[in-house]
Amino acid sequence: MPGIRITVADGPDGFDRAAAASIGSAIETSPGAAVVVATGRTPVGAYARLADDLAADAAARLRVFQLDEYLGIPTSDPRSLASWTRRSFVEPLGIDPASVEWFDATADDPDAECRRYELAVAQAGGFDLAVLGLGPNGHVGFNEPPSDPRSRTRVVPLSEASLASNAAYVPGFPVPARALTAGLDLLLAARRVVLVVSGRTKREIVHRALEGPVTPQVPASFLQGHPDLDAVVDADAWGA
Ligand code: PGA
Repeated sequence: MPGIRITVADGPDGFDRAAAASIGSAIETSPGAAVVVATGRTPVGAYARLADDLAADAAARLRVFQLDEYLGIPTSDPRSLASWTRRSFVEPLGIDPASVEWFDATADDPDAECRRYELAVAQAGGFDLAVLGLGPNGHVGFNEPPSDPRSRTRVVPLSEASLASNAAYVPGFPVPARALTAGLDLLLAARRVVLVVSGRTKREIVHRALEGPVTPQVPASFLQGHPDLDAVVDADAWGA
């Protein structure tokens, strides 16, 4: 598999360190990088470590893009994925939240909002780096199965698997049935991708994603063709 490096890290600390090192080196080799960053539990520790390790000026120069958002939930809502991105990545790294390209998931015309986002990514010259988690169903962002590699930034219905896993993030929050997501087309075109995967529950899906058939049924499997992919996987997810 040309272009794919798989790092299997031991323990939560080793995983966070390896993921932070991978993200940090991508940022340091590309000053002012346009970066799209995943929410979810997996990268939180890595982001905290990155905030400790990355020079403040390198962080401040990043052009940060939100990866996905629940349809209808305002950026300012503490339950939004924007708030998660702000708390886990933007604030710890000392990035000005006003400089981040957020999704306006309350826009009257969500499709037009998706076109606006695509334009902003194009104006940045595409993503230099995509930091992605792996959904329990093989999604990246909210590119739910089945997703074609040419899938654009769009409004998507969330799968049962995503509704269930995201419901666990905020107790009592009825996860909206639809979301906006950066398209698989933009994510696959990122010059470097760091995929972070941890936990026993991801074991089957991480092997399907990185070693199984390349198929819209496992959207992350299209990463197998990426020219510069760092997959940082913990030992619980990878197995013996
Ligand atoms: P997680 O989410 O990091 O909370 O497992 C990953 C995802 O669903 O993309």
